Amino acid sequence: MSTPNVIRIGLCGFGTVGQGVWKHLAGARRALESRLGAGIEVHRIAVRNPRKARAVRLPAGRITTDALAVAADPKIHIVCELMGGTSLAREVTLTALRHGKIVVSANKALICDHGAEIFATARRHGGHFLFEASVAGGIPIIKALREGLVANRFPRIYGILNGTCNYILTQMEEQDAPYASVLDEAKRLGYAEADEALDVEGWDAAHKASILAWLAHGVWVKPRQMVVEGITRITPADFKNAAMLGYGIKLLAVITRDLDSNELSVRVHPTLLPEGSVVANVSGVFNAVSVTGDVVGTTLYIGRGAGQDATASAVISDIADAAALLVHGKGSHLTAAETLPARNGCRLAPPEHIKCRYYVRLTVKDQPGVLARVASVMARHHISIASVIQTPGEDDRAASLVLTTHESHERAMNATLRDVARLASVIGEPVLLRIGDFND
Ligand SMILES: NC(=O)c1ccc[n+]([C@@H]2O[C@H](COP(=O)([O-])OP(=O)(O)OC[C@H]3O[C@@H](n4cnc5c(N)ncnc54)[C@H](OP(=O)(O)O)[C@@H]3O)[C@@H](O)[C@H]2O)c1
Repeated sequence: MSTPNVIRIGLCGFGTVGQGVWKHLAGARRALESRLGAGIEVHRIAVRNPRKARAVRLPAGRITTDALAVAADPKIHIVCELMGGTSLAREVTLTALRHGKIVVSANKALICDHGAEIFATARRHGGHFLFEASVAGGIPIIKALREGLVANRFPRIYGILNGTCNYILTQMEEQDAPYASVLDEAKRLGYAEADEALDVEGWDAAHKASILAWLAHGVWVKPRQMVVEGITRITPADFKNAAMLGYGIKLLAVITRDLDSNELSVRVHPTLLPEGSVVANVSGVFNAVSVTGDVVGTTLYIGRGAGQDATASAVISDIADAAALLVHGKGSHLTAAETLPARNGCRLAPPEHIKCRYYVRLTVKDQPGVLARVASVMARHHISIASVIQTPGEDDRAASLVLTTHESHERAMNATLRDVARLASVIGEPVLLRIGDFND
């Protein structure tokens, strides 16, 4: 293929991210063009409703409602899929790749559901698929894993990957406010979607964890194969209890690999983190990712995990790499399909193999002997108690019992909780949180 003088981009989607790309590409274009030695032009834009009012006005003459036509347009070199969803987005992505184009995507749900098919299609047709904006917004974590840390195997990657949850948890902790009222406030401010389930139940973070696990270990782990727990059962009391124990609470994605047994664990759950650690102090809508490599040690990345500007920054970085590939035959990094991670013998550990310390909050009848009965169930399952805090409950006949354990297996912990919940003196479902003794 001859080197193009002008790189033509098709934007499929002109919502929050699409408008951000348009706006910031205008600012960055001249510098990019002089570095590339070629022009850059947004050639066509696909939207669902061209008459919709937008902060950025749609440029006349470039609009269509046919995203598939943009994907197949022979004049277009780079297709940015910024629509979301997994149906039309998949069709658009595969169509563009089958035409040998470069696709830039911010769509973590699509990659998580159809990544294997997308990368196989790119390989087969000589296209490329770039997805920096799909995980942790403006933080260049994909490039860090793929290029900067290529010498490493990764025993542990963990982080805050959902800004909505981090905002809600931060507000609950700082304002001593219940989950429901903070969620309402987050919706009012536009930090949470009208249907918040994807975020607060942990699925959005699970999609991102799936992508990171694949990049780091070459294995696709679907959210349904992971332990995925959200933040809806956390109360202001949990923050107070955690603080008494020297911890904060964050919703974390945790990806661990035992380098000896090659067992991989990918999970998303609220986690108690030592309050002095950097990640425990990343607040509001910010994301943080800690990556421990066997060669480099631990590296830490913090920044805005979503929003128009941060996401546009990541999309434009992929556009720049795509343009460099087209003009010079190589990107500023290893974008080619043949450099995708190899399977390297990792296998997924069953969730019961998780091993950590636990925080358990029980609401119990305020009677003598309750702690002894709970302790006896724990002992029967070989769970060793590390600390106990008892505080008054919401009414004077109940008390809150908070126990932390020494390191235990998830299987034994689950069995313990089942038996504890059956005790006549325990009211309601126990709340279980995992303790991450990570100090970075
Ligand atoms: N927003 C963020 O902070 C963020 C961060 C990271 C990643 N992402 C990802 O980026 C992608 C886009 O998110 P967004 O927040 O920009 O979404 P959005 O604001 O809802 O925008 C979606 C755009 O796609 C267009 N669209 C939807 N269905 C279409 C169809 N059938 N044909 C043509 N166009 C169609 C919409 O057209 P109309 O405007 O006419 O409705 C709109 O312009 C998603 O995959 C999301 O997960 C978003």
